[in-house]
Amino acid sequence: MKKILIIGGGAMGSAFSVPCLENNNKVTITEPYNKIFIKNLSSKQKFHPSLKLNLPKKLQYRKYSKDILKEKFDLIVIALSLAGIDFIGKELKDLKIKTPLLVLTKGLKYDKKRKKLLTISGLLKNNYNVANVSVLKGPCLAKELARKNKTSVVIANKNIKIAKWIGKQISTKYYLTEFSKDVVGVEICSAIKNIYAMVIGSGQNLNSSSDLFQKSVNEMKFLIKYFKGDQTTILGLAGIGDLYVSAVGGRNSKMGEYLGKGFTFAAAKKKFMPKDTVEGEQLAREIAPYILKKINKKNIPLMAHLLKTILYNKKI
Ligand SMILES: NC(=O)c1ccc[n+]([C@@H]2O[C@H](COP(=O)([O-])OP(=O)(O)OC[C@H]3O[C@@H](n4cnc5c(N)ncnc54)[C@H](O)[C@@H]3O)[C@@H](O)[C@H]2O)c1
Repeated sequence: MKKILIIGGGAMGSAFSVPCLENNNKVTITEPYNKIFIKNLSSKQKFHPSLKLNLPKKLQYRKYSKDILKEKFDLIVIALSLAGIDFIGKELKDLKIKTPLLVLTKGLKYDKKRKKLLTISGLLKNNYNVANVSVLKGPCLAKELARKNKTSVVIANKNIKIAKWIGKQISTKYYLTEFSKDVVGVEICSAIKNIYAMVIGSGQNLNSSSDLFQKSVNEMKFLIKYFKGDQTTILGLAGIGDLYVSAVGGRNSKMGEYLGKGFTFAAAKKKFMPKDTVEGEQLAREIAPYILKKINKKNIPLMAHLLKTILYNKKI
C-alpha cells in the first residue's frame, strides 16, 4: 500500500482516484481552486458533479494548503488544468521534495521571456526547479475511467524504471499502463491533439474528416520532430490513440464542426457552447505567438490555419 496525493478534484483527478484505490493504495485528494469541487469532495456522499457519480468512500479529502505538499507521500499526482500549472509550480518551488510527481495535465506553455514553448514537465523543471516528474497521457475520458471502463494510458519518464514503478502502483485490470522514454513526444502529442480534433471535426462528412485526420497525423509527426521528440510516438496511445477519442467525440471536435459549418469561433461559442471550456482554444491562444512566428506554415498548414481562425475570429 502506497500513499498517493492527488492535487485537483476535477473530473480527471477524481476519476484517477478510482484505480489508485482499487490497487489498495491510501489515496488523498485535495482541491486548491474550485469551490464546487471542494464542497462536493468534502461531503459525505462525495458526489462528483462532472462525473455524475459518488466517488469511493475510502477516498480521503483534505483541505488544500502548501503544508500538505511537505507531508510524506509515495506519489504526488497533478491533475489541475493548464491554468493551474503555474500555481502549483510556485507552490512546489524550493520545497525540494523528492517524492515522484506524476502530471496528468495536458497542454503546452509559452515562455514569453525565453520565447520558447515548454512542455508541462519542462516548465516545472526549468521555471520551478521541480525534479522527478513523470507524465501520464493517452485516450482517457474521465467519466469512463470513473466507471471502470477499460482504459489504456502511457507513462513517460526518461528513467523508465520510475515510469514502471508508478505503473505498478496505479494499474488495475481495467486501467492498463504502457511506458515510454519519450517525454517530449508524449507531451507534444497529448497537447496538440486538441487542436487537430477541431481540424478533423471541421470536416462536414466522413470522407473529408478522414482526409483531415490523415493530414493531421502528418503534421503532428512533423511537430514531434521539430520539438526533438521521437516521431514513432505518433503511433502510440498519446498520439493517434488520443487523437481518435478527441476526434470522434468531445468539445474540441464539436467546436470544429461549428467552425466547418461557417461560424466564427466567438459566434459558435456564444450560440452553442457558452458554458463549455474548449481546451483546444486555450492551447491555440497559448502557442500561436510561437508557432505562427517560428514554424514555416507550409509544414503545418492545418495548424496554422486553425490558429489564425481562432486568434482573429475568422471563418475557417
Ligand atoms: N492524462 C490523462 O489521462 C487525462 C485524461 C483526461 C484529461 N486530462 C487532463 O487533465 C486536466 C484536468 O482535466 P479535468 O477534466 O479534470 O478538468 P476539470 O475542469 O474537471 O478540473 C480542472 C482542475 O483544475 C483546477 N484549476 C482550474 N483552473 C485553476 C487555476 N487557475 N489555478 C489552480 N487550479 C485550477 C480546478 O480547480 C480543477 O481541480 C486537463 O489538462 C486535461 O486535459 C488528462
